[in-house]
Amino acid sequence: SPLWLVVPAAGQGKRMGADKPKQYLPLEGQPILAHTLARLHDAFPQAHLVLCLDPEDHWFRPDWVPFTHWQQVPGGIERMDSVMNALEAIAANDSDLVMVHDVARPCITRADLHALYRAAQSHPSGALLAMPVADTMKRDQGDQLSHATEPRDGLWHALTPQGFRYALLRRALTKAQQQGTLVTDEASAVEALGEAPQLVSGRRDNMKVTHPDDLALATAIMAAQRS
Ligand code: C5P
Repeated sequence: SPLWLVVPAAGQGKRMGADKPKQYLPLEGQPILAHTLARLHDAFPQAHLVLCLDPEDHWFRPDWVPFTHWQQVPGGIERMDSVMNALEAIAANDSDLVMVHDVARPCITRADLHALYRAAQSHPSGALLAMPVADTMKRDQGDQLSHATEPRDGLWHALTPQGFRYALLRRALTKAQQQGTLVTDEASAVEALGEAPQLVSGRRDNMKVTHPDDLALATAIMAAQRS
């Protein structure tokens, strides 16, 4: 059955403070978006890509898309709205697998992509790449004072990709939209249905490019991954 890759790329990347959205900033001479799509294509050359783009976006160039099968859809107000637009646009079967991956994670490896795919295939509630929390976690009360320490036992960072059956993901995001809950990843919407997606331990270098410093870090990671 077909694999659908949804790549939300309609964000503004405001925290980057750059003159264009962060997915178009260069890493090793290529925009972040091109790196991310190249890695997805390397792992799943036959997949169908759905790219969510801001309707006002004038930086995107289709020659950065290596997929044979792909379409673009307009992004929404929030990330979850962008993903929902993708789900509404595709002619998928309920049991098809949908993998959602942030455009801003260009350091994703083929091994992690394949591991997540296998887990999402075999787990009815889906799966996400994640990383156990290593640091001690502090709680403030909006005042930047450390009032408490949260036990980090059992805490994970949620990464992408995250993969689910089409019907489950659509039901989850529909409910989140109807209830007006702001979900920042797909797994949280699925959890709200009482499901428990599988946590798949992913590489620590699958970082999300968010702040200006992250460009140098991502460049170093890519060089290290080649050596
Ligand atoms: O800003 P942040 O890095 O958290 O966004 C995560 C991902 O969601 C990015 O790939 C961004 O382009 C995407 N996004 C989107 N539509 C929005 C907001 C964010 O596709 N409305």
